[in-house]
Amino acid sequence: MSELPPLFTPFSLRGVTFPNRITLAPMCQYQAIEGVPNDWHRAHHGRYATSGIGCAIVESTGISREGRISPGCTGIYNDEQVEAWKPITALYRAQGIPVFMQINHAGAKASTKRPWDGMDPLDEGSDEPPWQTVAPSAIPAREGWHTPRALHESEMAGVAADFAAAAKRALAAGFDGVQIHGAHGYLLHSFMSPWSNRREDGYGGTLEGRMRLPVEVARAVRAAVPDDVPVMYRASCVDGEGGGLTLDDTVALSKELKAAGVDLMDCSGGGIPAGMRLAAMKTGPGFQVPYAHRIREEVEIPSMAVGMITEPQLANEIIAEGKADMVALARQMLREPAWPYRAAQELGLEDPASILPKLYAFYLKIAA
Ligand SMILES: Cc1cc2nc3c(=O)[nH]c(=O)nc-3n(C[C@H](O)[C@H](O)[C@H](O)COP(=O)(O)O)c2cc1C
Repeated sequence: MSELPPLFTPFSLRGVTFPNRITLAPMCQYQAIEGVPNDWHRAHHGRYATSGIGCAIVESTGISREGRISPGCTGIYNDEQVEAWKPITALYRAQGIPVFMQINHAGAKASTKRPWDGMDPLDEGSDEPPWQTVAPSAIPAREGWHTPRALHESEMAGVAADFAAAAKRALAAGFDGVQIHGAHGYLLHSFMSPWSNRREDGYGGTLEGRMRLPVEVARAVRAAVPDDVPVMYRASCVDGEGGGLTLDDTVALSKELKAAGVDLMDCSGGGIPAGMRLAAMKTGPGFQVPYAHRIREEVEIPSMAVGMITEPQLANEIIAEGKADMVALARQMLREPAWPYRAAQELGLEDPASILPKLYAFYLKIAA
């Protein structure tokens, strides 16, 4: 038997084994009603549950109603939502693909319109009225956006408890683990960034203060789930242009998160100041891989690379060269849900169709 390309080797975190290193990155669908996923989400995930990926991370899902980004965002704060997620996790389970939920509080970037409605703050004419947003400091995420209310020190334990309750509900819905969303300008990232966190109490100021809420959340989530359940953390490793968060800060955060029981750092970037879309950052193939590489080496924690990884050769090299343990793809998987099969073919997997569901594999093998 020939040696497996590194991209197609299994990888484990705690009690969960991923059949390969290809991850479906979390992608908001903006099509839920009152946080409840529906036919759209089932169809969307059906495409990927049959694609041969090694891990799926479902979209940013609100830990509370106010924590949703938009009225179309999914939630995990009530029983109806737990029930509605079950058929989606079942799709992945039937194919042996571990599935994670990204749990989030959108902070100052909550209460926004769906992308196709402009992604501006909700207003009185929107299908759902705007709601009061919260943040470390009363600074709008962007000029003209809602002014958030600065969270009081006494409210921090409640935020951590909401994340922990969300993690428990995610497991009840059949998820294999959770990913804490600490990126893209949402609540936890906004605590990390000196641009958005101007607090002078124990939750701001020094790097230690800025890290405090993210670390408390990680501890609370770890304590809420069994030992064999992995917890991932997605960080914006650096702010966008004009922000203040540095990679050194994120290395320090990763050390603390590792000690708090986080198992993998998913290394993204940007989101503060808001409006710095990916296109506005210096992007190119694998542009965020250096973050995943440095954190993996320096913190000795598994890492995930994401951002313009579109070609199998690049994805395979990232794993082969030890720059990350897993790779996540978002837009390329929208373009090409059969990407893992193409990757298996191009990287010379002995039996490329073997990564697909058995019926597909059976017929593709006959056709080969
Ligand atoms: C439609 C869409 C929705 C997204 N939603 C989320 C999300 O819910 N959570 C998140 O952390 N990132 C989200 N992202 C960012 C992706 O996970 C990914 O980090 C980014 O698109 C870069 O990867 P890519 O170049 O493979 O697209 C989204 C991206 C897209 C295209």
